[in-house]
Amino acid sequence: MQNRYQEAAERAAEKFRRFVPFASKAGMIPYKSEKGQWIPSPYDGNSWWTGGFWPGLMWQFYAAKGDAFYRDEALRAEKLLTDEFRTFRDLNHDVGFMYLLSCGAHAKMTGDEQARMDTLHAASLLMGRFNPAGFIRAWNNPDRVGFAIIDCMMNLSLLFRASRETGDPRFSNAAIVHADTTLREFLRSDGSVSHIIEFDPQTGNRVREHAGQGYALGSQWSRGQAWGLYGFTLAYRNTGMERYRHAAERIAANFAAHIRPDGLTDCDFCQPETEERIDNIAGAIAACGLMELEKDTGNKTYGETALRLVDGLLSHCCDWSDRQCGLLTHCTASYHDDGAGRHTNITYGDYFLVEALAKINGTDPMLWL
Ligand code: GLY
Repeated sequence: MQNRYQEAAERAAEKFRRFVPFASKAGMIPYKSEKGQWIPSPYDGNSWWTGGFWPGLMWQFYAAKGDAFYRDEALRAEKLLTDEFRTFRDLNHDVGFMYLLSCGAHAKMTGDEQARMDTLHAASLLMGRFNPAGFIRAWNNPDRVGFAIIDCMMNLSLLFRASRETGDPRFSNAAIVHADTTLREFLRSDGSVSHIIEFDPQTGNRVREHAGQGYALGSQWSRGQAWGLYGFTLAYRNTGMERYRHAAERIAANFAAHIRPDGLTDCDFCQPETEERIDNIAGAIAACGLMELEKDTGNKTYGETALRLVDGLLSHCCDWSDRQCGLLTHCTASYHDDGAGRHTNITYGDYFLVEALAKINGTDPMLWL
């Protein structure tokens, strides 16, 4: 008999099998589902940072089931994403998210040589954003030359991978400089992390913290906490440097202390108590990071906390019906609604829930490494 995690993974694969054809027939990469339809990214077309999660989901299903249906859909989306190399204009530090889970996953799962080259191409784009003053530039806006953000800790794996593949340490050297800057400037004494820090692009000196997608300046945007937790865990896995594991453990302790009694995750750990604003994506990402951290430390508490999060999502926030294309509900793109979605389904929430289930079930191909 299947346990609840195996059953959930099976039902997720079946649900996506039913709804994938609507995306492929429309020739698009889903960003979220709404009113029973897939919706493409609200900004920047296929250059929007979330495009990799759809093929990533397909590779997760392929790894679990070996069904070419999912692989073919991943390849369809990968083509749309690698076409963006030529557009170039809107690509930013999130090429890690976009290409680790598309061509990176393709190369990893099948050994395809063009996919391997495309992954190195993406790594070179990320490398091109490295400012030797000490950080990787996040976005392209002319007034944000010195901005770095916590999310980038997840993108660094692309650089570590490029160094492993090529034998050239310049990629990983840049990643380590950025990770050390993040450790020094983003990690706070209470184990929380800032979302955005602005640096002087000439000197690398800290200029100021900016409020980002969380509640307010100095608050704790929960998805940013999750990016830090998983990102430092990956930095440790990539380098073996203890300081990154310590950082991941401090962020994990702070995160665990803020999980709601129902296992769900508030959008910001400092939001007003009167405000019911949930972001389940944060919980799904954190669950993945915690399960990897358990492997690195042998500390079972991390795995238990991860299960609390996954149980919360399975018990309260999965829509298994055919009224909605996607799965995870109560995903929130940004605390102060930016139109990208609040208490809705968003594809990267589905991705991390499925990755978390795959880790529990022993089918995760670990696409981040
Ligand atoms: N900027 C990445 C995120 O919204 O989590």
